[in-house]
Amino acid sequence: MADHVKRASWLCEEIEKHNRLYYQEAKPEISDKEYDKLLKELVDLEKKYPELANANSPTQRVGGAPIDGFVTLKHRLPMLSIDNTYSPSELKEFDKKVCKGLGNDKPSYMVELKIDGVAISLIYENGILTAGVTRGDGEKGDDVTQNLKTVGGVPLKLNTKNPPALLEVRGEVYMARANFARLNEQRVKEGLDKFANPRNSTAGSLKLLDPKLCAARKLSLFAYAIGAMEGIQVKSQTETLKLLHDFGFPVNSNATQLDSIEEVVAHCESWNDKRHDLPYDTDGMVIKVNDLAQREKLGITTKSPRWVVAYKFAAEQALTRLLNIELQVGRQGTLTPVAHLDPVQLAGTTVSRASLHNDDNLKTKDIRVGDMVVVEKAGEIIPYIVRSEPSLRTGKEKPFVFPKVCPVCGADVVKDAKGAFYRCTGTDCVAQLKRRVRSYAARNAMDIENLGEEIIEQLVDTGLVKTLADIYKLGLNQLANLERMGEQSSRNLLDGIAASKSRGLARLLTGLGLRHVGENVADVLARKFISMKAFAQANEEELAAIEGIGPERAASIRGWFANTTNQELIESLEKAGIKMDESVSTVAASSALAGKSIVVTGTLVKYGREEIERRLRDLGAKASGSVSKKTDYLLAGEKAGSKLEKARELGVRIITEEEFEKLAGS
Ligand code: IVH
Repeated sequence: MADHVKRASWLCEEIEKHNRLYYQEAKPEISDKEYDKLLKELVDLEKKYPELANANSPTQRVGGAPIDGFVTLKHRLPMLSIDNTYSPSELKEFDKKVCKGLGNDKPSYMVELKIDGVAISLIYENGILTAGVTRGDGEKGDDVTQNLKTVGGVPLKLNTKNPPALLEVRGEVYMARANFARLNEQRVKEGLDKFANPRNSTAGSLKLLDPKLCAARKLSLFAYAIGAMEGIQVKSQTETLKLLHDFGFPVNSNATQLDSIEEVVAHCESWNDKRHDLPYDTDGMVIKVNDLAQREKLGITTKSPRWVVAYKFAAEQALTRLLNIELQVGRQGTLTPVAHLDPVQLAGTTVSRASLHNDDNLKTKDIRVGDMVVVEKAGEIIPYIVRSEPSLRTGKEKPFVFPKVCPVCGADVVKDAKGAFYRCTGTDCVAQLKRRVRSYAARNAMDIENLGEEIIEQLVDTGLVKTLADIYKLGLNQLANLERMGEQSSRNLLDGIAASKSRGLARLLTGLGLRHVGENVADVLARKFISMKAFAQANEEELAAIEGIGPERAASIRGWFANTTNQELIESLEKAGIKMDESVSTVAASSALAGKSIVVTGTLVKYGREEIERRLRDLGAKASGSVSKKTDYLLAGEKAGSKLEKARELGVRIITEEEFEKLAGS
């Protein structure tokens, strides 16, 4: 073996060892700096000798190339939901049913923390991580393999010389509280909306199309279950957790085996307060019958297994005074009432503001300014007001009345068609404009670097920016005259603005913020119409017929284009040189594989897993995870297994890699 090959292989092993020490044992043996040095050496080697790089090299953890979208994959075994309980008596009820179901057998329970993150499933074929999927609807989820590879603690390879043919590992991806706080601080600086809680930010991170961005979010994993498996057996949850640990997965060390429901209850309650000291969020405990044969005997109901239950922690509440209500103006003019509270301690943080959502909420809950109110945090970082306490009223409390005019611009305020929201009708309301600029410049939209909240405030307040197109008219002198903007930062901002011109139609549509058109819908529309011109000309029926659009969105989109201000905005943006179309591969439509559903199995010569999926996407084909009657082709590489058999059974056309290349026209 050549020296560089030996060195690379040693580096791989060494880095994986340190990954395990860090993520699994929380006992790092080297400093971050030393670790980075090893990783850098491997990255450099792989650059120099590209043949060294492979899909399970630890260098993948920094995130590979961005992808265009997520493919749906079917879980080998469904990811079931579990029943919730909220009190000791409900837990005892659960135990009674278990005991009854087991007859003379007594259950022993494994009690684990319920990590408040995002459930995922990882597929290992012959010890190699080949796919990572979100829970989705329990039957199928999104293929987020490239992002999951960047999650701390996810083994790219099982730590064993003798890997099972197949292993489906279930676990929870989460964001540690400290990382979450840092992320939100950063977002505020960049003028982006804060994430509500670590769970939401985890879910958002896993859906990022650029794995490098996901890597920067520093997510972590706890593994706690096995789905499908071949070539391996376990008898209990104890064995499952041990096996997962031995294979190199981070397993939460707080799992406790208990033999009586009284002990289970006491144990669960003991975590009620202790959980706040953990560095990550939990929303309860999961109680599982330990013995798998007993689980089998208990079976599942239509909804969830009979052998497992969650004990949910009670939401944290506090009583405080509502000092006043302020109105926040959204980018489409929606007025959201926000409560200012007498600061109060709640689940480890001081709470002084809470959203009141809308007028209906205020009325149904009869919340008045000056009321004593109960604030709650149910796993959410943003607290909300559960109810007022009318018995504590002094008579001075006042119901909140929405103003007739916008508190910022003075334009008329109207109630919207559905009646829950008040809206500012002002066409040049600065509050709306500021929000619009923020959303336009946001990372998921036009991604204008260095255009943060403070600068937006100044640009709008000084009148330099009156419409989104004005952003592109800004000059160096104007910017350098703003507060806290030197020449260099002005240049940086101008660079950021210039770079945003080429983002393409999907991001432009996201940035324009049409009602009901979020990131995903914008993407669908951009792929469908390719150009702004074609999109602007599409009629309502045409729009409504697109999968995922429907009549409400279609009407709202048409309404947006009917507005002359919006038409002018598009014109000005076009004049400013903004890219008004989407570069979608032109091969797609003409390829013989366009629209076909293809399953790939076994090892291919020319492609890694993600490469073939990207290729299929570019060809306009749909990569699917499992073979069914609807599958058009099974692309079978070397060592194809059960999928090949299934395809034969169903009479699905099987093609080799060579045949695939011919069909693909390459
Ligand atoms: S076991 C069929 N164990 O809670 C039972 N779930 O399941 C499979 N969760 O969103 C689930 N921590 O992702 C299990 N230690 C744990 C868990 C856990 C968190 C999540 C899971 C799912 C929800 C209910």
